[in-house]
Amino acid sequence: MKIHVETERFYLRDIEMSDAQGMFELDSNPKVHEFLGKNPVKSIEEIKDVIHYIRKQYEENGIGRWAIIDKNTKDFVGWTGLKYEKALREEFNYYDLGYRLKEEYWGKGIATETALASLKHGFETLKLDKICGAAEIEHSASNKILQKVGLKFKETFFYEEEEHNWYELERGDWEQLK
Ligand SMILES: CC(C)(COP(=O)(O)OP(=O)(O)OC[C@H]1O[C@@H](n2cnc3c(N)ncnc32)[C@H](O)[C@@H]1OP(=O)(O)O)[C@@H](O)C(=O)NCCC(=O)NCCS
Repeated sequence: MKIHVETERFYLRDIEMSDAQGMFELDSNPKVHEFLGKNPVKSIEEIKDVIHYIRKQYEENGIGRWAIIDKNTKDFVGWTGLKYEKALREEFNYYDLGYRLKEEYWGKGIATETALASLKHGFETLKLDKICGAAEIEHSASNKILQKVGLKFKETFFYEEEEHNWYELERGDWEQLK
């Protein structure tokens, strides 16, 4: 088990096949997928494919989303972190900041706490020059988190016919925020 980062309340570690049940609880919930294309997963087999895909990214890109584990209960809370995103913007690839939590964990500051740790890892350990994020324009919580952790709104764009806000954070601006 590879733990990459510790925050006050959580460990952030690689997602493993043993997380399949937790990932299924997360991704089979229609509320979780409200702003993610409204297509929750239907079977544990689909989730196993997702986990294979994420683990392949660790090897190919040196980074991928990480599991959030509650330090006290050891529960799988959801995921956060950076992904080398090749599909969302047609014009370019980029490092994307994202997060997805089981519903019972919403509203406790967890996305913010773990997103800040992901940014720190991206700039200080991976030495990235820029980290970006996107959220459907009506997704208040996600837009708020991206702004709160320091990303700056740049433009809107369409993905799968939904209008999204696009945010970026440059290394220099991150240094100033610290
Ligand atoms: C979006 C999500 C990650 C938020 O996680 P969270 O841990 O509840 O967020 P936080 O507690 O860190 O809240 C961050 C800010 O958003 C606000 N917020 C949270 N949920 C909100 C909601 N439903 N509507 C409006 N604002 C909301 C919080 O009040 C907080 O702002 P504040 O600090 O000014 O009070 C979580 O709801 C989730 O996993 N949703 C499903 C997956 C998803 O949509 N991921 C993002 C895709 S772009």
